[in-house]
Amino acid sequence: MRILLLTHSFNSLTQRLFGLLRQQGHQVSVELDIADVVTEEAVAMFKPDLVLAPFLKRRIPESVWARTVCLVVHPGVPGDRGPSALDWMMIRDEAQWGVTVLQAVADFDAGEVWAWAPFDVRPQATKSSIYRREVTQAAVVAVLRALARFVPGQLAPAAAASGTRGDSSSPGQWHALMSQDARRIDWARDTTHTVLRKIAAADGFPGVLDVLWGQPCRLFDAHPASSAVRNQFAASLPGELLARRGPAVLKRTADGAVWIGHVRPDDGTAARADGSSVLKLAATRVFATQAASLPELAAPLMRNDDEWDELRYREFGPEGARVGWLDFEFHNGAMSERQCLRLRDALRWVRTRPTQVLVLAGGQDFFSNGIHLHDIEAAQRVTGDSAADASWRNINAMNDATLEVLTLTDRITVAALHGNAGAGGCFLALAADLVWAHEGVVLNPHYKNMGNLYGSEYWTYSLPRRMGDAASRALMQERLPLSAPEAVAIGLLDDCLAADSAAFGHQVLARCLTMASAHDLAQRLKTKQAQRERDEMHKPLANYREEELTRMNRNFYGFDPSYHVARHHFVFRKPHAWTPRHLALHRELKPASTTPKPA
Ligand code: COA
Repeated sequence: MRILLLTHSFNSLTQRLFGLLRQQGHQVSVELDIADVVTEEAVAMFKPDLVLAPFLKRRIPESVWARTVCLVVHPGVPGDRGPSALDWMMIRDEAQWGVTVLQAVADFDAGEVWAWAPFDVRPQATKSSIYRREVTQAAVVAVLRALARFVPGQLAPAAAASGTRGDSSSPGQWHALMSQDARRIDWARDTTHTVLRKIAAADGFPGVLDVLWGQPCRLFDAHPASSAVRNQFAASLPGELLARRGPAVLKRTADGAVWIGHVRPDDGTAARADGSSVLKLAATRVFATQAASLPELAAPLMRNDDEWDELRYREFGPEGARVGWLDFEFHNGAMSERQCLRLRDALRWVRTRPTQVLVLAGGQDFFSNGIHLHDIEAAQRVTGDSAADASWRNINAMNDATLEVLTLTDRITVAALHGNAGAGGCFLALAADLVWAHEGVVLNPHYKNMGNLYGSEYWTYSLPRRMGDAASRALMQERLPLSAPEAVAIGLLDDCLAADSAAFGHQVLARCLTMASAHDLAQRLKTKQAQRERDEMHKPLANYREEELTRMNRNFYGFDPSYHVARHHFVFRKPHAWTPRHLALHRELKPASTTPKPA
């Protein structure tokens, strides 16, 4: 089929469907939803059998849905309608939810249901996390079911296989956009559970409007305080700010306390021309001066499960066949200079541990998305600093962390991707000996989308050693997302182990324990060390780094501002003015010979 993906942005769900549909042999092109005339033009050019809208904020024009089957993915059960479907579901504390694929008509979410798929709501997960995992997985199922009902040349679907349809006769219930009033936290009354649920339901966008040190701001990225921390501050009052740790500040609730990792200052001028008031940053960065007066509650890498921090290290298995497991759960997978240095230091400490295999597990939702573009943007406004200097420091810190993995030759290293990885985050993973993912993972192993950034993280060493020079160049040029199975097929990943993140974790550990106790481990490590020595003799890692950084230096400080412009657009979510050509295949220029000659 010819399928046009019509979407507000090429987000993770759209990328997953893009990979899936291409894998199934469909011809897929993408048009970002910019204006009705642009959509009409795209449909006229591509002549799709079907338009699929995974993420829309506006209606599809009647001129399109009246002639072509247009299917909309709604993150709600059949009958649910409205723009805050997941937010309301979380505030209501639903245990089960679903994704519906329905036909576009004049009204929002009101067309015939072609298919839907249910899922269990993961307790304590944030809205974005549920969107990236459960919603995306259910959307894959529902879209495939809906496509099975497509009849060429017809607007109506074929009869549904039993159990695949929802209630299409009911017009459903409209739930309005959730307001800040519905989200407001009452610190004197709300329990930790309620506070966490409110912040989780607003994760990603729009955050919960609150006040910290007299400054209105939106709260994101909240975690419960452990019983030890709660006891330490038992005498404090609800709403009080108590301590700091990494990016987060600790705030007292009615019955405990929560760590608040990220905030977006809100002075009522969100539309300020340079967008400077709306950057989401670590709470301890936005309120650096105020937070400095709070006690720092540092947490060791190895600690009780209920003690939150960005990094955690655990060990499994007996002496002599032991697996080390390092989680680095950085918000949105973005790694600032501070976070890269923490990871580097953690890796240096982990080296001293008696393990045979080290698993780099990244975060649950993102393995890593490379350098922290919000943090870099914020440096523009710091006297004596600049985005170029901050980019330079950040990429060097990222390289330092990557180098620790590349030079860890006395044990097997495994990058286990529980979540997606983008740009430098992909190449951090490739520094490991083995790179595994589950079927739901989407990779963006390229940098060019960020204003033609050249990239570093030793990619010029780690990518060709896996895929060869020509394939590496093609991958970097193409700039398309890859599903994990596609990445395995081209040799970018070593294996795709499970259907989802939960099963993946168990399988990774089981495999690593087997590897750690294998009789040929010593021989395997000898081969690894010899290979590293040969590679170093051939060309030292320092040379790869220097060459990459020479190009990056030009990106940061050179005449061409593309990277700075692209970053600015990315962090402030500037609307797209056109669909990039590598996605809008229908807009590819025809070769000269096939272009009709003017009369
Ligand atoms: N720095 C800072 N924030 C980042 C980030 C980065 N490198 N990568 C992603 N984010 C943030 C986004 O701003 C967004 O924030 P939100 O919570 O306000 O919504 C969130 O992570 C999710 O990103 P989004 O783009 O919505 O996710 P996605 O899954 O649809 O797309 C990527 C994933 C990787 C394709 C996309 O995020 C991306 O291109 N990131 C930039 C990668 C990059 O160029 N890194 C720098 C070079 S190493």
